[in-house]
Amino acid sequence: MSVLPPTLVDALSNVRSVGVITGAGVSAESGIATYRGKGGVYDDPEEGDRTIEALTASTLKSDPDRTWRAIAKVARESAGAEPNAGHLAIASIERRVERFVLLTQNVDGLHQTAGSRNIIDIHGTVAETTCMTCGREAAFDAREELAKLDAAPRCTCGGIRRPNAVLFGEVLSEKKVRQMHDELVADPPDLVLLAGTSALFPYIAQPVFSAKTAGKLTVEVNPETTHLSDVVDYWLEGKAGALIPEIAACLGG
Ligand code: OAD
Repeated sequence: MSVLPPTLVDALSNVRSVGVITGAGVSAESGIATYRGKGGVYDDPEEGDRTIEALTASTLKSDPDRTWRAIAKVARESAGAEPNAGHLAIASIERRVERFVLLTQNVDGLHQTAGSRNIIDIHGTVAETTCMTCGREAAFDAREELAKLDAAPRCTCGGIRRPNAVLFGEVLSEKKVRQMHDELVADPPDLVLLAGTSALFPYIAQPVFSAKTAGKLTVEVNPETTHLSDVVDYWLEGKAGALIPEIAACLGG
């Protein structure tokens, strides 16, 4: 017996294409802090509300050690984390439907580890770095490198390495923005599922509005309400790890 509303279970049985949009809440059950709220990345006792300032392009340039200290929290947690039932259910949805795209703001790499394939990681990743001097790309293993990190990591050329994650004040990848537009906005899938995100950025909310306008099914999974909870067809109050497997079970029948 599904915990989902019967009308939603019916609607899901007709779904052939799915777009999933995720944020930090999907990784909360893997032990990774969200950004906002108590204990979040922006609730840092040392930086206080200056954490966002530390995560800007201009701080990376003027004081890269400070930027890396702010990144350390996310990167350290990500390196030791395993995908949870929510990540695994999202990967299983991709195998059950004809067309699938995952738009994630997460930089922790857990969707990739869980087996999702068609991923738009719009904010990049903390598992890779680029040298700001010579441009050399290198993997970044936070378990090894962050344990001793009290300054920005260096390239073999001596230059400072930057994370391949988008900082405030930086533009998004043009290629990823185009893919997001093509697969989620111009031709919305039958279902758009928003999970574990406060959806504050307009490009995250846009696919939900496009799906609504096109008469497609929209669902949100979140223990709290967001500015989109009144917009979607169904706001499901609860955790990603509990509810996304229920949704996956109704798809691809
Ligand atoms: P936020 O921290 O803003 O929001 C996390 C959301 O997850 C909240 O709405 C929570 O209620 C919800 N949540 C918490 N636990 C959950 C669970 N177990 N299951 C489902 N939902 C849960 O994180 P994001 O929306 O990801 O950008 O933040 C978006 C962006 O803002 C981040 O990518 C980051 C940040 O600034 C950059 O760094 C560029």
